[in-house]
Amino acid sequence: MSLMEFPCPCKFHMPLLLLSIAITIFDPALATKDCYFPAIFNFGASNADTGGFAAAFQAPPSPNGQTFFHRPSGRLCDGRLIIDFMGQSIALPLLNPYLDSLGTNFTHGANFATVASTIIPQRSVVPLGVFSPFSLGVQVTQFRGGVFATLIPKEEYFHTALYTFDIGQNDLTAGFLGNATLQQVNASVPNIINNFTENVKNIYNLGARSFWIYNTGPIGCLPLILANFPSAEKDSYGCAKQYNAVAQNFNQKLKEALAQLRVNLALAAITYVDVYSAKYILFSNPEKYGFEHPHVACCGYGGDYNYNNNVGCGGTIKVNGTEIFVGSCENPSVRVIWDGIHYTEAANKVVFDKISTGKFSDPPIPLNMACYRNFPRH
Ligand SMILES: *[C@@H]1O[C@H](CO)[C@@H](O)[C@H](O)[C@H]1NC(C)=O
Ligand SMILES: *[C@@H]1O[C@H](CO)[C@@H](O)[C@H](O)[C@H]1NC(C)=O
Ligand SMILES: *[C@@H]1O[C@H](CO)[C@@H](O)[C@H](O)[C@H]1NC(C)=O
Ligand SMILES: *[C@@H]1O[C@H](CO)[C@@H](O)[C@H](O)[C@H]1NC(C)=O
Ligand SMILES: *[C@@H]1O[C@H](CO)[C@@H](O)[C@H](O)[C@H]1NC(C)=O
Repeated sequence: MSLMEFPCPCKFHMPLLLLSIAITIFDPALATKDCYFPAIFNFGASNADTGGFAAAFQAPPSPNGQTFFHRPSGRLCDGRLIIDFMGQSIALPLLNPYLDSLGTNFTHGANFATVASTIIPQRSVVPLGVFSPFSLGVQVTQFRGGVFATLIPKEEYFHTALYTFDIGQNDLTAGFLGNATLQQVNASVPNIINNFTENVKNIYNLGARSFWIYNTGPIGCLPLILANFPSAEKDSYGCAKQYNAVAQNFNQKLKEALAQLRVNLALAAITYVDVYSAKYILFSNPEKYGFEHPHVACCGYGGDYNYNNNVGCGGTIKVNGTEIFVGSCENPSVRVIWDGIHYTEAANKVVFDKISTGKFSDPPIPLNMACYRNFPRH
């Protein structure tokens, strides 16, 4: 393949040849131009689902979507997700879900994430069960067979695109809400991480080079865990300590695995993004960002955390013979948690602004430099 078949991977009109040398030798001194990502391919679960689950199974009802889209938008959120803010920040249109065949345009990438997706395939899957049948391996198969194989005219996009991953929390949830003990869930982490990295290798082998990989958030701060395990020991910010400890073990193992992957995959630029820490700040210092009641769901029903396993945001519940609609709190923009599991648009914006700087990343690469394998450390 000649050099000319590749698009200029940079926003400036640098001569192609010079640029390809810069990219080939990865000289950090030359790594000063913004990366140009013509497309994003995202793999993940509900934190990054922009309508995949809605297209395949069931659309989230109103008031989901009320803040930004002013109607349900396939997202479990009042507005935009981190992936939406990311796309907007690099001037890409909102990412189309792979599963949505209506008016879909994969020119600028595709989103394979679905609500309730896991890394390890689960036995209990929708429509009869709980988790998404589109586990990470299935998403990679969709990428390989459904997009990669049919977008040949834009083959160069597959090298220059940004590959993002936000998945793993549901693997922990499956254990916590199943019959596993904390120790058993914790002990399952190496297998989950190993499966994750095998999937990343498969995508690399198809030509992907720039990876932006989120760790898992502070699950012990969510109403889902706090309401289901009311006797769990809390840390000084009201989060369930042991549940977060398992998430942190997941993150430590992921970080180590990605360090190894950087050695194994010679051409990959792999950024580990510590979204756990960025999200945890919303619970440890909510006032700084204008938030209140960080552990209480905005859209939910009942109890200390405004969360009930039997009814979700936008559903109805019968209380003392009266049907009650489970709607939004008055002002989602001052709340961290939307529905007990997912964050509000306001929280997602704060988190995106933090992580895009590179301050939460290993190596500390900002989003606009995430195509460079070697980036000068400060
Ligand atoms: C897809 O989007 C691109 C850019 O946004 C546009 O140029 C192209 O015409 C669109 N294709 C279809 C089939 O709508
Ligand atoms: C937990 O164990 C019980 C009894 O063995 C079983 O009926 C139930 O399905 C299990 N729950 C999950 C989520 O695996
Ligand atoms: C989880 O396992 C790791 C070892 O892989 C251990 O260091 C850690 O203490 C365990 N944490 C919990 C909460 O069991
Ligand atoms: C991940 O685990 C599942 C279930 O064990 C397995 O079928 C699949 O092949 C694994 N994926 C990879 C890429 O190793
Ligand atoms: C339902 O009725 C009981 C008994 O009258 C009362 O104590 C309780 O507060 C009511 N619950 C709600 C949510 O109104």
